[in-house]
Amino acid sequence: MTPTLAPSSRVQLTDDGKLRHFLTTEHLPRSLLEDILDTAASFVDVGGRAIKKVPLLRGKTVVNLFFESSTRTRSTFELAAQRLSADVLNLDIAKSATSKGETLLDTLRNLEAMAADMFVVRHQDSGAPFFIANEVTPNVAVINAGDGRHAHPTQAMLDMYTIRHYKGGFAGLKVAIVGDILHSRVARSQVHALNILGAEEVRLIGPRTLLPVDAEALGATVFTDMAQGLKDVDVVIMLRLQKERMDSALLPSEGEFFRLYGLNNDKLHFAKDDAIVMHPGPINRGVEIASEVADGPRSVILNQVTFGIAVRMAVMSMAISGQDSDSNALAASTQSMEGAGGARGQR
Ligand code: CP
Repeated sequence: MTPTLAPSSRVQLTDDGKLRHFLTTEHLPRSLLEDILDTAASFVDVGGRAIKKVPLLRGKTVVNLFFESSTRTRSTFELAAQRLSADVLNLDIAKSATSKGETLLDTLRNLEAMAADMFVVRHQDSGAPFFIANEVTPNVAVINAGDGRHAHPTQAMLDMYTIRHYKGGFAGLKVAIVGDILHSRVARSQVHALNILGAEEVRLIGPRTLLPVDAEALGATVFTDMAQGLKDVDVVIMLRLQKERMDSALLPSEGEFFRLYGLNNDKLHFAKDDAIVMHPGPINRGVEIASEVADGPRSVILNQVTFGIAVRMAVMSMAISGQDSDSNALAASTQSMEGAGGARGQR
């Protein structure tokens, strides 16, 4: 019997459980997340070669559609696509026709007419990549590069890769995510991924005003005190204050936030001696993290960026492979319908 899939999984997976689009880590099977990590592991050494290329996406066209600013995600997606030998188009949204009133859907239809195979989408509105995934033709894959406060699944997976690399796995691990959880798509995707991959405990630490009301329902333990929340954790993930998403004063001041929640060496002492410190970036020194920690021996922040290329190569190659298998299945079923005098033009 086919298992019942959550709506997000129905969009993301092919009938035989392969990745078709990558929109959220929520509800994905553990085996698929492990597949992404294992596939990424096979790509890590490509970055150290004299010729940093493999031919997996040769002949494919990847379009980066970033409606919101980005440094790390956009550049590592571009490098990942290039290292897979794809042709890459970076659409400059500020200069594109969407700024002249063209609808998102019309822009997409035009890019499809140029035979795009994949859209990598960052959007300020939660749900935009889901909308696009539901609208694209069946042979186009959509990867969510961060939507509103909803999800940032490739960031979460590169964070999972980093944790597995330094800690060997997830069993028995206590992971603390600290800061502005309320506005963080990264935190949501991390909590889902950590629970799916079997972490022992996920803790969310921050002031009440920056914690979502459904924090416990997400599968996390909530703390408002750093000493208690960081006690004996293996991994500390710091998040920046997302001021662009704050529509009211949620904090007395940045100085007060740093005093209570900013990670410095004194507060890091509450965590285990071998705890690693992570941050998705961009970091705000002196606001959520002190330079002594960001540049210190426990920080793996720049290693996260490096692993991000391999993880994005993994996600892109798996989604293209899922699309190809889905398109082949669709073509086979269309052919058999046509043979039986059935419908045409399924694409
Ligand atoms: N972590 C992250 O999403 O960073 P950018 O906004 O620079 O892509």
